[in-house]
Amino acid sequence: MAIVSQESSQITVHEPVAVEVRNLCRSYGETQVLKDVSFQVEPGEIFVIMGPSGAGKSVLLKHIIGLERADSGEILIAGKDASSTKTHRDIRTGIVFQAGALFNSMTVYENLALYPTEHRLYDKETIRRKVMEALAIVSLEEAADKIPAELSGGMKKRVAVARALVIEPQLLLYDEPTSELDPILAATVAELIATVRKETNLTSIVVTHDTVLAKTIGNRVALLLDGRIHTIATPDELTRNDDPDIQDFLHPKIDLDNPRFRRS
Ligand SMILES: Nc1ncnc2c1ncn2[C@@H]1O[C@H](COP(=O)(O)OP(=O)(O)O)[C@@H](O)[C@H]1O
Ligand SMILES: [Mg+2]
Repeated sequence: MAIVSQESSQITVHEPVAVEVRNLCRSYGETQVLKDVSFQVEPGEIFVIMGPSGAGKSVLLKHIIGLERADSGEILIAGKDASSTKTHRDIRTGIVFQAGALFNSMTVYENLALYPTEHRLYDKETIRRKVMEALAIVSLEEAADKIPAELSGGMKKRVAVARALVIEPQLLLYDEPTSELDPILAATVAELIATVRKETNLTSIVVTHDTVLAKTIGNRVALLLDGRIHTIATPDELTRNDDPDIQDFLHPKIDLDNPRFRRS
């Protein structure tokens, strides 16, 4: 990965923000999805929200970016209410979506320039510099004129991260960054997340069901089970904790005597 010197850096790294989630509850109809969720993310930290499919991780992310409103409780980003659009105008959040969500009809450069151009964030020359700088952070300057379909899965992930960086976020969110990737590619995504954090020192929240990723990159990991925060700990503390729910999640056992797996 290229190390970008401070002098040449065009991406302004704003002060990383703290995120505080306080007693968040959210139901859809009769189903309570988030059950009194509370945690604090420190500025510059990589905080992982880990849990099985359906635990409520994506719902939680949608509340952080202000797409969904809680029934009760609150989320503060740098002390400001995350359910207010003004907060999100003042504090930019970069999001790396699961599927990358890149447009195949455009080049990598055009994909990255789209949002800042449409929202008139900067003049054309500044956008060019920031796009190239974001690509440099993920070591992909040479891919600027390619279309996403020409890139490998790992390169597409890097483009998706660069696109999140172009807007100079203060908070970076990743939703399942390793899903649908083979283990080797998943390891490179872990390196990518660690590199981006070293280059930018951004507060990063990573939502994942991937226990290897969580243990590799998290400063701290929150285990979300069925809408509730079960434990918040460092990866080492989690590994050493002999709580059965934690160990079941970290090391799921397949019971071949279970009638579901028995041949009839
Ligand atoms: N808009 C919605 N309406 C009703 N139920 C929803 C909605 N969004 C999510 N859910 C439910 O909330 C639960 C958690 O979903 P989600 O946050 O996507 O899980 P995951 O941890 O896999 O990201 C699931 O049972 C899902 O069906
Ligand atoms: Mg999800």
